Amino acid sequence: MNQEDYASEDAYAADPGSGEDAEATRRHAGEAESSRASRSWWDRNADEYQSDHGAFLGDDRFVWGPEGLDEAEAALLGPAASLKGKDILEIGAGAAQCARWLAAQGARAVALDLSHRQLQHALRIGDSDAPGALLVEADAGRLPFRAGSFDLACSSYGAVPFVADPVGVVREVHRVLRPGGRWVFSVTHPIRWAFPDEPGPEGLSVAASYFDRTPYVEQDERGRALYVEHHRTIGDRVRDVVAGGFRLLDLVEPEWPEWNSQEWGGWSPLRGNLIPGTAIFVCERD
Ligand SMILES: C[S@@+](CC[C@H](N)C(=O)[O-])C[C@H]1O[C@@H](n2cnc3c(N)ncnc32)[C@H](O)[C@@H]1O
Repeated sequence: MNQEDYASEDAYAADPGSGEDAEATRRHAGEAESSRASRSWWDRNADEYQSDHGAFLGDDRFVWGPEGLDEAEAALLGPAASLKGKDILEIGAGAAQCARWLAAQGARAVALDLSHRQLQHALRIGDSDAPGALLVEADAGRLPFRAGSFDLACSSYGAVPFVADPVGVVREVHRVLRPGGRWVFSVTHPIRWAFPDEPGPEGLSVAASYFDRTPYVEQDERGRALYVEHHRTIGDRVRDVVAGGFRLLDLVEPEWPEWNSQEWGGWSPLRGNLIPGTAIFVCERD
């Protein structure tokens, strides 16, 4: 089957396709298989991801997605001045650009990622003279921190779209946050799963059911998953954060700004002006 047959894939990833022989399909993928596939996919593709998107992400900017919404303006974690002295965890941090911005605001930032290669890029980019983030290699489903370690947690397209048990991740975030702490995360806007993942006009016609939660999987000739992405509807995501012990304060759907002429996979000015591409959930711990 052809990757173009599927509605949404490679969210915010380096490039469509995981390898020459990858077959794209929709099938069940559990926690262990998803985690294993993500680790090796991001290890293999981190160099390309950082080389393709590093300039847009910036070494120490906090960008919420391909639209370019910047935390410096959006203040979804709170006003920048309020971040000073806070313990903040970034999940699925990649090369830790966001965590580096948080550290520059005076936060004690921890950047966690499953991929060793992504964290090597964090080391490469990190300037030893600038405030940095502590780097931790771990799975979002098993956070290696004591309960109540952080004031805030965030994730820009990190981990959440790739895990089979999103409520498990929310519960882990709840455990490591202090009462009243915010958990803010961005994912591909769920409506995108109904459309082909193409930046041009072919990406504007509904091609699949929005309600089909079957994961998108790229697999090798032996059926081993190379890349897995999980779809949840907007309602599912709201129920996930509530089930994990959070209140939903806001759901931000960034509009495509006039200044942004870049294409990033299926994200483009054409589609961005018509349908949302990113959903950002702003949650508060009970
Ligand atoms: C699309 S990238 C986003 C990286 C970064 N936040 C950015 O904006 O460039 C997704 C990241 O999530 C990480 N990731 C995927 N599954 C994960 C998991 N289960 N636990 C922790 N990190 C994970 C990947 O290794 C990758 O670095």
